[in-house]
Amino acid sequence: MDPVRIDVTTPSRAYTVAIENNAIDRLGQVLEQVHAPERRFIVSSPLVWRLHGARIARAIKGAEPILVSDGERHKQLPTVVRIYDALVRASADRASTLVTFGGGVIGDMAGFAAATYLRGIALIHVPTTLLAQVDSAIGGKVGVNHPLGKNLIGAFYQPHAVVIDPTVLATLPRREFRAGLYEVIKYGMTSSAGLFDRIDRERTAIFAREPAALTPVIAESCRIKACVVSADEREAGPRMILNFGHTAGHAIEAVTKYRRYRHGEAIAYGMLVAAELAWARGALADRDKKALADLIAGLGPLPAIADLSTAQVLEAMRHDKKVVSGRLHFVLPTAVGSTVIVDDVTDKEMRQALKRVGLKR
Ligand SMILES: NC(=O)c1ccc[n+]([C@@H]2O[C@H](COP(=O)([O-])OP(=O)(O)OC[C@H]3O[C@@H](n4cnc5c(N)ncnc54)[C@H](O)[C@@H]3O)[C@@H](O)[C@H]2O)c1
Ligand SMILES: [Zn+2]
Repeated sequence: MDPVRIDVTTPSRAYTVAIENNAIDRLGQVLEQVHAPERRFIVSSPLVWRLHGARIARAIKGAEPILVSDGERHKQLPTVVRIYDALVRASADRASTLVTFGGGVIGDMAGFAAATYLRGIALIHVPTTLLAQVDSAIGGKVGVNHPLGKNLIGAFYQPHAVVIDPTVLATLPRREFRAGLYEVIKYGMTSSAGLFDRIDRERTAIFAREPAALTPVIAESCRIKACVVSADEREAGPRMILNFGHTAGHAIEAVTKYRRYRHGEAIAYGMLVAAELAWARGALADRDKKALADLIAGLGPLPAIADLSTAQVLEAMRHDKKVVSGRLHFVLPTAVGSTVIVDDVTDKEMRQALKRVGLKR
């Protein structure tokens, strides 16, 4: 397949997302093309570095790896400080480029380090999970968790380039891969019936990570994210539709202390909740609600949800960042490929939707 190039144009920076099999072997050329400053640092995790580091080290000669832990519980300021420490010890100056090489956790943490070290050095994202490739590497949101809440500390800092190599997904555990696919379903359900149908039709080949099936799915997802981000860098309006499934999803993650579900799995439940809400209001046809539920079920089982308490999930939702002046904004699907944003969902509607998705208490 030919390389795919997608432009992202925001007020703070314009850059290209390049998608190509074996792209990491040509990373050196990409860095030259975007005139990335001479000294290169790669931030990665020990696991990702062990699996794929040799290739990237060959591609950017002389780059210095900085390895930090990448579980969600390490997505904290102390880990960012370790990145600063390594940069200071190596006397990294403004003529330095930071390359992130890992999943969303590495991208968000190292991106935040790049945004703040010397008030900002050049940043290149090379995402290695499906979720990072279709979502977190594009759009410039970087940051870390606070012990009392997720992603509370951060910045908008656009990269100079994003390089996506679908072949690195070969080593991704199946559950992580599936977690990323739920975000792809989100793009389909909110913005592209074509993408939605494609996931359904080519599910087996996508799961087998066959490039002919997988690369177009990644490319289409990136196109949607790039388009939305270009229209609305700071999430004042259109970017909000990408929060589809995330209001209930974030609450479900929070009440289980971020331990039971992968982010995408919680979003899968969140999308089902939003679909139930829309259906109960007569805004979504039975057939479209079923299409979403079937596609999600077809990817495999989700961790259990029956034991969660509706009252706790509702309470967690009230603390959501998307509460603006006391009103919770909710993205509801109106058909496969289109949505509407509402701010008048009642607790009663919410409780009923949560019950229909499977919460028993
Ligand atoms: N910035 C944004 O706009 C944005 C958007 C969505 C999500 N996020 C953030 O992204 C994070 C989740 O990212 P994630 O799902 O990529 O999780 P992750 O970064 O924790 O990666 C998941 C696991 O996969 C491993 N891994 C990574 N690449 C691999 C590969 N190629 N082969 C084998 N194993 C590999 C990692 O070591 C890790 O154990 C969350 O913190 C979330 O807040 C940010
Ligand atoms: Zn998400």
